[in-house]
Amino acid sequence: MMPDKKYFVLFPLLLLLFYNCGNNSAAKQTGTNDTNITIAMFGDQGTTDNSKKVLQMVKSEGAELLIINGDFDYKNDPKAWQQMNETILGKNFPIVAVAGNHDMPSWQEYQTIVAQWEKHPGLSCRGIPGVETTCVYKGITIVSTTPGLFNDMNHTQYIDNALFGKTGWKICSWHKNMAAMQTGGKGDATGWGVYEACRKNGALITTGHEHAYARTFLLSDIEHQTIADFNQSDMTIEKGKTVVVLSGLGGISSRPLIHDGAWWANKQNDNTGATAGAFFCTFRIAGHPEVAECYFKDIYKGILDRFTLRLSQ
Ligand SMILES: [Fe+2]
Repeated sequence: MMPDKKYFVLFPLLLLLFYNCGNNSAAKQTGTNDTNITIAMFGDQGTTDNSKKVLQMVKSEGAELLIINGDFDYKNDPKAWQQMNETILGKNFPIVAVAGNHDMPSWQEYQTIVAQWEKHPGLSCRGIPGVETTCVYKGITIVSTTPGLFNDMNHTQYIDNALFGKTGWKICSWHKNMAAMQTGGKGDATGWGVYEACRKNGALITTGHEHAYARTFLLSDIEHQTIADFNQSDMTIEKGKTVVVLSGLGGISSRPLIHDGAWWANKQNDNTGATAGAFFCTFRIAGHPEVAECYFKDIYKGILDRFTLRLSQ
């Protein structure tokens, strides 16, 4: 005898429900309010198996926007890079990407892709794609610049202008670093101006270049690494105080700790067994526009850092 027709409908539904429960993420556990916005951020991506696993994790964590902090595929193959991202995330997934040093030889082709992504209907972007851009996604402002790369531009001035009078969450994204704001062997490349402009305007800073993850305590002076608050799990960003997050474990490799500092609240790198992963922030937790839950998740080791960010305007 044939089973009842309703089982053909019920069984796939139950399977879907089971699958979704198994995929419970930190973002989902912190609230299911529609106003939650999870953004993934990383640089130094590559097209390795780990790179693909990081992208799959971006999807499974429920992120709805990806910020790529430069150094895309390391192969000067823009088409393959675009295809990898769009195949895993979906063709209509919003991505804001900024140039890294490895992207320079084929920059024009990369820029065409970045410019196309910036036209996503959920994003409102102005500026030079991948070089100096301000994008707004659901009220969150993302300012992308290229200090240490496109040196004929005043990125500090651009950040100041872009963030002036802006309310709500603000994120500064670029690729390179100052030596003290990374944990490997990278030298001073950006100048302090861009860091300080973001701090003065109360913007969270995320960078790449060094293949590691590290995030500071709340700093009231980034150039001199002045710690404003030693609470490492709950920090309030305001004009003059912010957090710097190095997120360079996008998949190409993981490097050891070389340059340490007392200003780091969490460090993940080859020494700690971190391989590849992304930094996530879920903004507007449970309808609170001023609260974000942020975490770094490694594709193999899971969540290795977690903290609450608050915004005081
Ligand atoms: Fe780089």
